[in-house]
Amino acid sequence: MSSKRLDQFLADAMDITRKEAKAMLRQGRVKIEPAPGTVKPETKINDSSTVTVDGQIVSEPEEHVYYLLNKPAGYVSATEDSRDHTVLELLPPQKRRKLFPVGRLDKDTTGLLLLTDDGALAHELLSPEKHVDKTYEAAVRGIMTDEDIKAFAEGIDIGEEKPTLPAKLEILSSCEEGCRIRLTIQEGKFHQVKRMVSAVGKEVISLKRISMGKLKLPEGLAEGQYMKIQL
Ligand code: URA
Repeated sequence: MSSKRLDQFLADAMDITRKEAKAMLRQGRVKIEPAPGTVKPETKINDSSTVTVDGQIVSEPEEHVYYLLNKPAGYVSATEDSRDHTVLELLPPQKRRKLFPVGRLDKDTTGLLLLTDDGALAHELLSPEKHVDKTYEAAVRGIMTDEDIKAFAEGIDIGEEKPTLPAKLEILSSCEEGCRIRLTIQEGKFHQVKRMVSAVGKEVISLKRISMGKLKLPEGLAEGQYMKIQL
């Protein structure tokens, strides 16, 4: 924190108005260590100040919080749902405050999901104009071919107004009964990966997101686990 007026600090940290903060000051409930000459609304405080109200230390809230979640199947990417468990329920209640998932993974999709309270960052990652890469690994019923690689690179018709933007398909393992693929897309249309695979006559059996922009799913993060990150 750079230096800040005391009334503003209290308002930000306690989610109160500056008027309410000033009232607390008048009531003598606020103390600062190291003690400045006087404790006024305009008194400047900084990183080395400890502010207490009624003897309780008040700390500035963290700016924004970011959790990387390895979403398990069976949870919906929502903050509330009347029928299903939501991804937020994977965090303890005291951590859920104002968090939301950045974008949606289908209920049966696993893997990387960012939970945050940072609306501006969510917009950056989700805005269609930004073309943020999202990479998925999938098990597919049917045999993906070099023609599919070409078709995905050129863009295919999935029943939207326009074809999909160029996508990178890698065939990780090919076999008679099914393949494992890695697919990087620049958009986030509803069921996009499943619809792209279906458009070339195959079917996604399981789907996992492994990255989104610079964010990568950490190898050691098991399904259902989350970790706090700094952005
Ligand atoms: N594409 C899909 O089909 N499903 C997802 O959950 C994400 C991308």
